[in-house]
Amino acid sequence: MKHVISPLDLSVEELDHILALAEKMYQNPERYAHLCEGKKLATLFYEPSTRTRLSFEAAMMNLGGKVLGFSSADSSSAAKGESVADTIRVISSYADICAMRHPKEGAPLVASQYASIPVINAGDGGHNHPTQTLTDLLTIKSLKSSLDNLTIGLCGDLKFGRTVHSLIRAMIRYKNVKFVMISPDELRIPDYLRTEVLDKQGISYKEVNVLEPVMPELDLLYMTRVQRERFFNEEDYIRLKDSFILDAKKMKYAREDMLVLHPLPRVNEIATEVDHDPRAVYFKQAQFGVYARMALITNLLGLDGDLSC
Ligand code: CP
Repeated sequence: MKHVISPLDLSVEELDHILALAEKMYQNPERYAHLCEGKKLATLFYEPSTRTRLSFEAAMMNLGGKVLGFSSADSSSAAKGESVADTIRVISSYADICAMRHPKEGAPLVASQYASIPVINAGDGGHNHPTQTLTDLLTIKSLKSSLDNLTIGLCGDLKFGRTVHSLIRAMIRYKNVKFVMISPDELRIPDYLRTEVLDKQGISYKEVNVLEPVMPELDLLYMTRVQRERFFNEEDYIRLKDSFILDAKKMKYAREDMLVLHPLPRVNEIATEVDHDPRAVYFKQAQFGVYARMALITNLLGLDGDLSC
């Protein structure tokens, strides 16, 4: 039994296999419509979500399986003080696999230590969001053909943005990947990522606080929202929330083939006028999330053995 708590829980080979399967599922979903018949997915969401929870549920339904779960801590017995460890012990007898989102970093890891079913981290605090990463990789691979030789701009809240942390960890395993990190000083990536991951592995990166001059260098621009829910005071959030707003004028600095990604939800950081630009692929990215999760569920349930991919 395997859990996916961090993007590094999947080897490059496993990732490549899951991405290839996801692409096949995207091209021919009918072929996989009965793969998970008789199986149940539990979605245990202690924190709000639209895309992750609903794409997990859509993924399981597309595979012919069923779903059960809760969408907030308040509507579960966590409100009465039940621990994650006790909850997952019980859910293990109700479902075959579970996806857990939790505001506390490490909660899905704790769950995996008490579970007798595969646990997928659907986002834990400011830490990791491996299935968003899988979605991002599928989007990049499908639209750029390769995960190698890319210069990736990461813009916005790089301190609290778990999608960015997971994406960096995943992308450094591919060839000749460079990062340009664009953020206010207060929202730079955490020190541990800079020293323990990027510096230690000799990854090329630079940190800047203006977007326009670096736009022409980028193959991808990954925009992120400033994470209001992780700030300790509202004043700091208000001061920083509109630090970077991508609009049509700034898009003029970008290459014709640069793609704009965003894990969504968006607040102000991408003007809606950019939605009409063919380089804006964030809604397509959200659609790819269903296929990425279909492939991951299939893999973790061990149902992909006879699928040639
Ligand atoms: N990208 C993402 O995690 O979105 P949700 O918070 O809506 O799940």
